[in-house]
Amino acid sequence: MNARVLIVAALASALLAGPAWLAAPVRAQSSDATGLANTRDFAQADGAQVYATICAGCHMPDGQGARGAGEYPALAANPKLAAAPYVEMMVLSGNGAMPGFAGMLSDRQVAEVTTYVRTHFGNRYDDVVTEQDVKALRASLATASAD
Ligand code: HEC
Repeated sequence: MNARVLIVAALASALLAGPAWLAAPVRAQSSDATGLANTRDFAQADGAQVYATICAGCHMPDGQGARGAGEYPALAANPKLAAAPYVEMMVLSGNGAMPGFAGMLSDRQVAEVTTYVRTHFGNRYDDVVTEQDVKALRASLATASAD
């Protein structure tokens, strides 16, 4: 685990463990730590780039996950990824120590990063996940869009 990953992971778990009034700065600070604030054209990023920029910090570049400041499940060969909506929902809303990225990612990016993790790291779930799927799920979760 490199230093940047440790910082991102420690920052994220510290902030997520904090009181509710700390919830607002969580996104801003963790995105600063991943350098997203300096990536002018992040809105154009595709699934692989979204994975590398956001997800890899916790789930590792090879999807093997990590144990350290927190526990980050492996996405590699993970049978739970068979359910595309489960992955989309995790990306939008997060759960436990994973923050949601609904405010940061467009429907297209959520669909692409979902497809990316479901077709890499030994996963072979190649049914198509569309922008429309994400849009519908987002509406049902009533979360904010990045667009
Ligand atoms: C700040 C660290 C962090 C980041 C960044 C992060 N995750 Fe997670 N992720 C977690 C943690 C912690 C869990 C376990 C959450 C729980 O307890 O349910 C998790 C769980 C998941 C799961 C469910 C795995 C399972 O076995 O149930 C998926 C799928 C997932 N993440 C995908 C992603 C994707 C895709 C991204 C990038 C858009 C991402 N994560 C970014 C920390 C992170």
